[in-house]
Amino acid sequence: MRQLLVTSALPYANGHIHIGHLVEYLQTDIWVRFQKMRGHRAVYLCADDTHGAAIMIRARAEGRSEEALIAEMSEAHQRDFAGFGIEFDHYGSTNSEACRAVCHEVWAALRNADMVAEEEIDQLFDTEQGTFLADRFVRGTCPKCGSKDQPGDNCGSCGATYSPVDLVDPVSTLSGSRPEIRGAAHLFVQIEKLHAFLDEWTQSGTLPPESANYLKNFFLNEPLRDWDISRPAPYFGFEIPDSPGNYWYVWFDAPIGYIGSTAEWCGREGERLDDWWRSDATEIHHFIGKDIQYFHTLFWPAMLKTAGFSLPTQVHIHGFLTVDGEKMSKSRGTFIRASKYLEHLDPEYLRYYYATKLSSRVEDLDLNIGEFVARVNSDLVGKVVNLASRTAKFVAESGLSPGYPGDGGLFDRFAERGEEIAEAYDKGDYGKAMRMIMELADLANPYVEEKAPWELRKDPARAGELQDACTVALNLFRTLVVYLAPVLPGLARKAGELLGEEIVSWEQAKHPLVGRPIAKFAHMMQRVDPAKIEAMIAESREEAPEAAEDAAGPSWDDSGEALAANPIAPQITIDDFLKVDLRVARIVAADEVPEARKLVRLTLSLGGETRNVFAGIKAAYEPSALVGRLVVMVANLAPRQMKFGLSEGMIVAAGPGGEDIFLLSPDEGAVPGQRAG
Ligand code: 2FM
Ligand code: ZN
Repeated sequence: MRQLLVTSALPYANGHIHIGHLVEYLQTDIWVRFQKMRGHRAVYLCADDTHGAAIMIRARAEGRSEEALIAEMSEAHQRDFAGFGIEFDHYGSTNSEACRAVCHEVWAALRNADMVAEEEIDQLFDTEQGTFLADRFVRGTCPKCGSKDQPGDNCGSCGATYSPVDLVDPVSTLSGSRPEIRGAAHLFVQIEKLHAFLDEWTQSGTLPPESANYLKNFFLNEPLRDWDISRPAPYFGFEIPDSPGNYWYVWFDAPIGYIGSTAEWCGREGERLDDWWRSDATEIHHFIGKDIQYFHTLFWPAMLKTAGFSLPTQVHIHGFLTVDGEKMSKSRGTFIRASKYLEHLDPEYLRYYYATKLSSRVEDLDLNIGEFVARVNSDLVGKVVNLASRTAKFVAESGLSPGYPGDGGLFDRFAERGEEIAEAYDKGDYGKAMRMIMELADLANPYVEEKAPWELRKDPARAGELQDACTVALNLFRTLVVYLAPVLPGLARKAGELLGEEIVSWEQAKHPLVGRPIAKFAHMMQRVDPAKIEAMIAESREEAPEAAEDAAGPSWDDSGEALAANPIAPQITIDDFLKVDLRVARIVAADEVPEARKLVRLTLSLGGETRNVFAGIKAAYEPSALVGRLVVMVANLAPRQMKFGLSEGMIVAAGPGGEDIFLLSPDEGAVPGQRAG
């Protein structure tokens, strides 16, 4: 029996759970349920991630304490998870005494290992709000190109990266006032001291190959930068014991929350924390999204190693959700909250649909609405539930046959596939598991068609045959439900009630049920009603404040805001313009830059040659979605040495920055290398 400690990323307390988050929690819940059915000991732990400037500022704006805010959010998160059948063994909070105690322990270990350094850094301070400003709470004029109203760390207009203190005319978005520069001592963890260890650990088979390969280059190229891990007061978090007035940065205590939550669970269950976090007998499995892999593959193992905790056995990394091929969008109504979904649709639909799309690869997953309806209706209702709904009523009085009837070897075939299906689940290849299960369903349905119990029942002389046919069909149905149970706990419960035996173990697929009564058939799953999907999308659109105008349809009454924010530059001559060599280029590779939150490293092909360009478009574009598209680049811009490498040009984009960046695309027919102008 394996002993498994399993986690999903801790959701931030400043937002509600939406269908994008659910990919991960459902992926994890399915894995845990599967392992439990296989007889392993699996403990699923999570918590709310509660600290940081964002929570502090929101609580202030709402005129209540941070504690009141995070208590409300935790309750909402847990309600949403429960609604989707996501069953944690414990759900904690990073703002707990258990978490604080582990933070102290990890911190003491880092100090002992001489891994903490202090450095004075300049930051902007909002004197009206009395707080230092995180990058995203400052805007101002770009120090490089002079564009107005740019974010604190990266210019949306020219792509330059800078420190917020370099902004010309900075404005605090919290108060609208002009912040001042103040120096403050920050504490840094020197993870470079574990370079060799991390290099080896990331290549040890713990990570998906895509991630491990990516990190390989990362270690070759440069030393690991010190990690700024403290924030000066005021900050909502834990005060650092040997550095009064400084608080641990939210990303320090977030993963420690995994251990804090385990400690609380141990306290409740009478377990020893060391048996779970300091024992080779326990496997530790983290499920996370690809956006937070650096925290889990560099900082987190460095902390665990230093403090003498076990290292993760496996980090399962998934991609992002798109809806009908696009980023979730408030104005399209595809930014759907978990609670909104539950008002309209059965959670089991989404559990199954995501399962059909999930693999062990770090791939994005598309929720295609048409396919969603078709899969659920044809697979679950049409192939699985139908087996029971067409047969159960005919044995309501007689019960199942006393011995298992001849079925041409069908039941055995179903039982034999069990191990292969289990292997797919264990590897995270749920899509493959679902396909195998549906292949079996495709064998069961012709059996029922051929036996036609609805005909047999007309002839009392064939009552025995009818009972046998239904016994076979219901047993095949039951095996399918055993295999689907990790994904569809609700269906498994109903099937268990029908058949008078709870579905709890994978082993149940090996032995047919015979000679027992069958309950009255109660409805198990309805077909998806497309009208409900439409209503859900319409309501999601209406509830997004900024979406109201979009919903009214396009109007050409373009506001003057963009122009006013960024007036037209002084006149130039045609010769001036011709100095700028604009070229059509193709993005042939797009990678995240680990230590730059906003940057994407682009490899642009001009046909005969390629260029490396760093673009500040990460908040607006998912790197993998960029590969292959054409853009316009400034090809003769002097190369610029950045912290992360040489940037050899710029791509042309519009918009104020952040999520609102819009790349310019050539129309169809253009080819890389063509000059534009
Ligand atoms: O990205 C996020 O939403 C973080 N709140 C995840 C934290 S995961 C872990 F490290 F706690
Ligand atoms: Zn600029």
